[in-house]
Amino acid sequence: MTVTVPSAPMHHRLATAQSAPALRWGVIGAGYIADVFARSVNGHTQSRVQSIASRDSHRSNLYAKKHGVDTVRSGDGAYERLVEDPQVDAVYIATPHGLHRDHALLAIAAGKPVLVEKAFTRNAAQAREVIDAARAARVFVMEAVWTRFLPHMVEARRLVSEGAIGEVVHVSADFGGSPEYDPQSRNFNPDLAGGALLDLGVYPINFIHDFLGAPASVRAIGALAPTGVDLRETVIMDYPERRSMGTALSTFEVDTARLASISGTRGRIDFGHDYYAPTGFTLTRDGRRSVEFSQHVELGWQYQVAEVARCVSAGAIESAVMPHSATLDVMAVMDEARRQLGVVFPGEDSPAT
Ligand SMILES: NC(=O)c1ccc[n+]([C@@H]2O[C@H](COP(=O)([O-])OP(=O)(O)OC[C@H]3O[C@@H](n4cnc5c(N)ncnc54)[C@H](OP(=O)(O)O)[C@@H]3O)[C@@H](O)[C@H]2O)c1
Repeated sequence: MTVTVPSAPMHHRLATAQSAPALRWGVIGAGYIADVFARSVNGHTQSRVQSIASRDSHRSNLYAKKHGVDTVRSGDGAYERLVEDPQVDAVYIATPHGLHRDHALLAIAAGKPVLVEKAFTRNAAQAREVIDAARAARVFVMEAVWTRFLPHMVEARRLVSEGAIGEVVHVSADFGGSPEYDPQSRNFNPDLAGGALLDLGVYPINFIHDFLGAPASVRAIGALAPTGVDLRETVIMDYPERRSMGTALSTFEVDTARLASISGTRGRIDFGHDYYAPTGFTLTRDGRRSVEFSQHVELGWQYQVAEVARCVSAGAIESAVMPHSATLDVMAVMDEARRQLGVVFPGEDSPAT
C-alpha cells in the first residue's frame, strides 16, 4: 500500500519559517550564498537583512539595492563595523571556510548571535575555539547546515526515531560537483581551506551523522588537486557497536547523482535527487512502498533562519537540531579524513591543530 502523506497535516507537524520571530540580520561577505540568504530571509521569514558588509563598495551597494538593505559597510573594517551596529540583531558569515573562525569570533566578541556557513571552520580545533568563545560569552552560534531543518529531513528523522525502518544499518550519500579549476578560488585555494571535503563532503557526512551520530572510526581514500587540497574522496564512517556504517562520497571532478538512502533492518528510505536541498523521499517496507513524502518548498534556507530566531528569542546559545556537538563531530570526521588523505592547510601542523 502506498500512503502519500498529505501536505495539510504535515504543515501542522512541521513548524513554518514564517511563524518564527523577526531578527535584523547583518551579512558578512557579498558573494553567492549571501545573495541566496537575503532572498530566503526577506522573502520567506519575518526577518530581514538589515546590513551588508563587503570589502568592495561596488558589491555591497549592488547587494543593498537588490535586496533593499538599509545599511552598507564597505572597505577596510567593514566586517568589524557591521558586527558593532546596534541595528543588527544577528550576523551571518558568508565568507570562505578558512576565514569563518576569525569572522565568527568578531561577531561573538560584539555579543551578536551568529550563523556560520558550512564548513564551520578549517578544523575541529578552530571549531572548539569558536564554540568555547560563544559559550563563555553566552552568545548563540550555529553552523548553517540548512539541510537539517528542511521538512523532508524533519519527517525522515521522526520516522526513523519511531522505528519505521527498524535499526539503521547503512546510510549512504554523495555530493559531486564540477567547479572550474582555479587555484585562487575558494574551492581550490588551501589558504581559504578549499577542497571537496569541506565544501561538499560536509553534506553527506552531516547526513550520516544526523542518523547515526559520531562514528567510532573513519577511513578515507581519495586524491588531491595540484594545489594540495582534496579533489575527491570516499569517507567511511564505522559504527561497530551498532553494526552500522555510513559511506560519503564527495568530488570536485563530476556532477554525481546526489542521492542518499538509509537502510534499516525493516525498511529503507530513499531520498530524491539533491537530498541536501528541499526534496521528497520514499519509505519502502517489506518490499512495498509505504510512505511517500513530498512538499513544495521554495529556496529552503529560511528554515535555518527561523531556527536561529526561535533559539535567540528563547535565550538559547545552541540549536537542539544542529547542536555544537554535531559541528564538532563532523569537523573531527573531516580532520581525520584529511589526515588520511594528506591534506594540511597553511598554519596547521596537522589537520587537528
Ligand atoms: N548553504 C549552501 O547551500 C551553500 C552554497 C554555496 C556556498 N556555501 C558556503 O558559503 C560560504 C561562501 O561561499 P560562496 O559560494 O558564497 O563564496 P563566494 O561567492 O566566493 O563569496 C565569498 C565572499 O567572502 C568574502 N571574502 C572575504 N575575504 C575573502 C577572501 N580572502 N577571498 C575570497 N572571498 C573573501 C567576499 O565577500 P566581499 O568581498 O563582498 O567582502 C566573497 O564574496 C562558504 O562557506 C561555502 O561553503 C553554502
